[in-house]
Amino acid sequence: MQSASTDFHQPSQISHQSHDELLKVAVVTDSAHLEEGRALAVDLGLPFLEQGSAVVTATPYVLHLDADGLTLISQSGSSGSISCDFMGGKLRHRHRFGGGSGQAISRAIGVKSSFMPSVADLTAGLGADAFVLAGLGAKVTMVERHPVVAALLSSGIDRALRYGDDEDLLAAVKRMQLIRGDARDWLSSLSASEQPDVIYLDPMFPERNKKSAQVKKEMQVLQALVGKDDDIADLLDEALTKARYRVVVKRPRLSDPLADRKPSFSVTGKSTRFDVYALAKLPVN
Ligand SMILES: C[S@@+](CC[C@H](N)C(=O)[O-])C[C@H]1O[C@@H](n2cnc3c(N)ncnc32)[C@H](O)[C@@H]1O
Repeated sequence: MQSASTDFHQPSQISHQSHDELLKVAVVTDSAHLEEGRALAVDLGLPFLEQGSAVVTATPYVLHLDADGLTLISQSGSSGSISCDFMGGKLRHRHRFGGGSGQAISRAIGVKSSFMPSVADLTAGLGADAFVLAGLGAKVTMVERHPVVAALLSSGIDRALRYGDDEDLLAAVKRMQLIRGDARDWLSSLSASEQPDVIYLDPMFPERNKKSAQVKKEMQVLQALVGKDDDIADLLDEALTKARYRVVVKRPRLSDPLADRKPSFSVTGKSTRFDVYALAKLPVN
């Protein structure tokens, strides 16, 4: 299940979540995936529960493994479920009809016909933005520190690589690499030659997302699990010392810049704004 990702640290060290918070989640599988489920539970340091046991219904989150991969089911508060599916649904639709290199995220990142930047997405989440960038042709290193979110993303990548039937979408997924760990640790491990051209940040904020009810619901589940990314200003500081050309921060359209840091310029979309911190001129050929 974890083959699509690289551990930067051991699972017990990789999250800012406390052990108690993680214990809100239990791994449950169908009968065909018991062994894989047990191994996943050990890897993530989570309890493994028998399907149908009384404890399952009392657990706030169930990480369910079956032939479709991993799904996180929220059973309390913002009920709903999230999973990562690059080959179907809204991600496939966005890839086909999202507007290509003309869309706001592409202009903010600096994609050009003569230059395709390497991107480090340091707040990978479920990989939707990274997939858009990989779909444009960028190599994207994704870093995710929440073990459960990283497991969902890893499952989505594995599933796409195993069963993906669309060459174009598959090629995009192959340009994505997942690192499980805290982005600040990953950044500090980089040598000068490993610096990404562009660093991308999309921190969790409560006011975000006025999109469809479904997207909103998914975001609520993710947010309830992950919490707020309160330490994001430190990550921005670090990112500004490591990116070669620019750092891009995704913000709700009308909100203040992150940590009141005035960007060099912004690219504004329908509900989102991308604040660009330019560090050097992009290469032109
Ligand atoms: C709003 S979500 C990102 C959504 C993502 N852009 C997408 O398209 O699916 C923010 C994610 O960043 C992760 N995160 C925040 N700070 C991080 C850090 N220092 N290192 C690694 N991951 C981090 C959180 O765990 C959360 O999953």
